[in-house]
Amino acid sequence: MNENEMIQEIERLKKEKNAVILAHNYQIPEIQEIADIVGDSLKLSQEATKTDADIIVFSGVHFMAESAKILSPHKKVLLPAYDAGCPMADMVDGDKLKIFKQEYPDIPIVCYVNSSAEVKAESDICCTSSNAVKIVKSMKEDKLLFVPDQNLGSYIQKQIPEKEIILWEGFCITHHRVKSIEVNVAKKKHPDALVLVHPECNEAVVSKADFVGSTSEIIDYANRSENKTFIIGTEMGVLHKLRKENPDKKFYLLSPGLTCYNMKKTTLENIYKALVFEQYEIKVEEEIRNKALHSLTRMLELS
Ligand code: 13P
Ligand code: SF4
Repeated sequence: MNENEMIQEIERLKKEKNAVILAHNYQIPEIQEIADIVGDSLKLSQEATKTDADIIVFSGVHFMAESAKILSPHKKVLLPAYDAGCPMADMVDGDKLKIFKQEYPDIPIVCYVNSSAEVKAESDICCTSSNAVKIVKSMKEDKLLFVPDQNLGSYIQKQIPEKEIILWEGFCITHHRVKSIEVNVAKKKHPDALVLVHPECNEAVVSKADFVGSTSEIIDYANRSENKTFIIGTEMGVLHKLRKENPDKKFYLLSPGLTCYNMKKTTLENIYKALVFEQYEIKVEEEIRNKALHSLTRMLELS
């Protein structure tokens, strides 16, 4: 089957099985083009609650598909690449949070949505990169634990100095490795460019940016800006939408290392197979799902 035939088959199977394809902004262009919805983590969680499809094919990584299942338990949620995980999500687990809670029962836990169902279940509320500041601001407590991303946590801390945020030592292996010297070099090469970065980048990089936001916020910012040149400090998948929606503007990737190999595990072929064989189905144990749902619902209500 060639690529066009595969796309036609995907379209046919989607109709036949009443399936919807949700894709993260980091997915490869071919997938973004066939997806029903492309967005950041917040948008995709919101869409998972709204769709009336029977099957959600989640083109992204495991925690995203798992969140969709937590929010829509009666739908079949499929992850086409069974091993597409997020190394940062694996840097914290539910047992460690249970120990923390025993020691500090009065300190609430805010978890980045890039985390497992068990971690969400042990947390008080979730957040994504687009609503993190708003969510933390809404907490009545002055001190809280933020897991697992230390970079997003310290970015929030800068925006809300009146609160004390205890940071976990997690990080995104893709964003964390970008160096601040790469910002200097890119700015020298493109002096008129604005630097737009994701808060998963480390503090030294974030402090040199003109704008910090989620993947969709970066895209919206570039779409609205009068500027013509941008240096993009997030995973290279966002370049597809940026260039498609702004043919008159120039976009340069801040660092050649900005590729998340887990996000690139999803292909047209494994989406096709996901629809044919209804694989790989995401399941979440009911007790954990209920507790994790509480953290996700609290977040969505505030978003
Ligand atoms: P957002 O799309 O919410 O900015 O998330 C970025 C990310 O790293 C997802 O894994
Ligand atoms: Fe995880 Fe980073 Fe990849 Fe996002 S970009 S899925 S945070 S490793």
